[in-house]
This record gives sequence, C-alpha cells and structure tokens, in this order.
Amino acid sequence: MKDRVFSGARPTGRQHIGNYLGAIQNYVGLQEDYQCIYCIVDIHALTTLEATEGLQENIHEMMLDWLAAGLDPERSILFVQSHVPQVMELHTLLSMVTPLGWLTRVATFKEKARTQPHNINYGLVGYPVLMTADIVLYKAGIVPVGEDQLPHLELAREIVRRFNYIFGDTFPEPEAKLTTTPLVLGLDGVKKMSKSLNNEIELAASAEETRERVMSAFTDPARRYRSDPGHPEVCNVWRLHHFFNPDQIDEIADECRDARRGCVECKEQLAEGINLALAPFRNRRAELVARPQYVKEVIADGAHRAHAIAIETLTEVKERMGLI
Ligand code: TYM
Repeated sequence: MKDRVFSGARPTGRQHIGNYLGAIQNYVGLQEDYQCIYCIVDIHALTTLEATEGLQENIHEMMLDWLAAGLDPERSILFVQSHVPQVMELHTLLSMVTPLGWLTRVATFKEKARTQPHNINYGLVGYPVLMTADIVLYKAGIVPVGEDQLPHLELAREIVRRFNYIFGDTFPEPEAKLTTTPLVLGLDGVKKMSKSLNNEIELAASAEETRERVMSAFTDPARRYRSDPGHPEVCNVWRLHHFFNPDQIDEIADECRDARRGCVECKEQLAEGINLALAPFRNRRAELVARPQYVKEVIADGAHRAHAIAIETLTEVKERMGLI
C-alpha cells in the first residue's frame, strides 16, 4: 500500500499565492507517489469565526482553487472535515492523553489569546489535538504544510508517541513536508501572506486586480528615490520574482542595485509574470465555476471515501483504549 499523505487548510475562501507556494504546490506533486487526503477544516475555522454565514461559500471557493490548481479527485480524497464526524470522537479520545500544559504553551494559542481576548474558547486550546486527530484518523505519515504549522506538527508527534506508548503501536509518527518556499511574505514584505492581514494576492484575482495589488507592495525601504541604488536581497518583490520570472532573476537584481530599474517597473513586471503564470489556472477555474454540481459531487465522494478509512481507525482506537 502507498504511504498516506494528509493535509488540511482552513476555509478561508479564495486561496492566495502564499497558500499555493507554501502548500498547494506540494499537495499536487505528492499525488504522483502517495495516496493523498486533503481536507478543508471547517471545524477548526469555528475557533476564530464569530460570523459563519460565509462558511459554505468559502468552502466552495476553496475547493474550486484546489481543483483548478491540479488536485485530482480521481487520485486523491478531497473532503470537508465536518462531513466525517469521527474526527471529533478521535479528538476527544486523544485529548485524554494530552497534558494541558503542552497545549497552553503553544505559540499560536498564546497569540490567539492575545488577539481575541474576548473569545479564548476551549476549541482554541484543543486546536492542535484536533489537527492530530485529522492526521492520525487516516494514519498519515507525511503532512505537507508551510513553516507556520511546524509547532503543531511537533505536538502531533508527541501526542502520537504518548498514545503509542500507553496503548501500543497504533499510529505512524507524522512528518512535516515543507515546500522550497515554506514562508511567503505578504505585500507588506514583513508578515506572512495571510487573508486576515490583508496583504495577500489571490490566485483567482483578475489580471487587473493582481496588478493593483502588486503595485501596492512594499519594496526596499532604503530606496526612497528612483536614482537610489536598491537592495534586492531585502525586497519581497524581488523574492516573488523568483517564482514568476525565474529566468530574469539575476538581471533584475543587477538593474535594481545600480538603479537602472525603478520599483514601479519592477512591480509591473512582477504583475505580468504572475498573470502569465496563473492564466492556465484561471481558465480552468472559470470552467469549474460553471459546474457547481460537479464540485458538490467531488466533496460528497471525498467524504464517502474518507469515512470508510475513519471508521476502521476509530474502531481500532476504541479497542486499544478498552472501549470495545
Ligand atoms: P492554514 O489554513 O492557515 O493554511 C493552509 C496551508 O497553507 C500554508 N500557508 C503558507 N505557507 C507559506 N507562506 C504563507 N504565507 C502561508 N499561508 C498559509 C500553511 O502552512 C498550511 O500548510 N492548522 C492548519 C490547518 C490544518 C492542518 C491539519 C494542516 C488543520 N488540520 C492537519 C495539516 C494537517 C491551518 O490553519 O492552515
């Protein structure tokens, strides 16, 4: 049997180039050699959402992006977390072997407690336990993620080790698999690209929207005038050129260093590169938008296939824990 790959992502709607370069690209490539399971984690989303009206639409938009980016429902299982509710049972069972101290120490928990002091809910504390349940319900050994998820993966490994120690070898220890771009910075050039920070470039944006977003990007802060020499190594626009204009990367750096090119032209060229690279994706996406029923079928079929594996694992876990 092929090794299993699992990854999840919150239903943030349309995906950005950080999601793509940091994770989705890896999801697509792994389909060649592994049995892959990719999940839109709607329950995780509830830990931070106060309004949930847009949730179904976000799930749909995100699945459109995944399909257009090359996730193949014939080869991989693509599904929505809450459609396979066994994960919540496993979450509760794993919570019994997870010391609370491990969870309250997690940096993302502390960060959330700081940013949403009015809503430090129980689900936030258990977030990494639910993530662990996601992965081990399918006995996945490989987890493609961006760098920000590494602390969660480390915790998942600890929970697995503890479970296996107490109840006998049940789960493989999941290993993170990073892309070559595990952290993509946003248009501010400082923080990770993220919808919540409004510093993202959406994959599905139109060519003109993309251009407008790119033109708002921060460049080398030391370069105030067109005639000032630039420092490409500190400039996020230059970093992005690596993916979208890889053949010209040295030329761009040289021209920036001796002020032969200005930031405006540099950004124009980046926008063109992005639009060119994403044109096939955008065409495929437009075709899928016209087939909403197909997307629903993919999601239903994914849940059906995921459910079969989930039931098997959960039964084994209950036996091991003495519940059956
Ligand atoms: P989420 O929804 O924040 O992000 C989805 C994936 O995209 C990656 N990513 C990035 N990579 C590089 N640069 C960026 N700017 C960037 N922004 C996002 C993330 O690292 C992630 O791989 N907790 C997870 C979801 C989850 C999960 C799981 C992941 C739930 N259960 C089980 C793996 C296994 C999250 O919130 O990802």
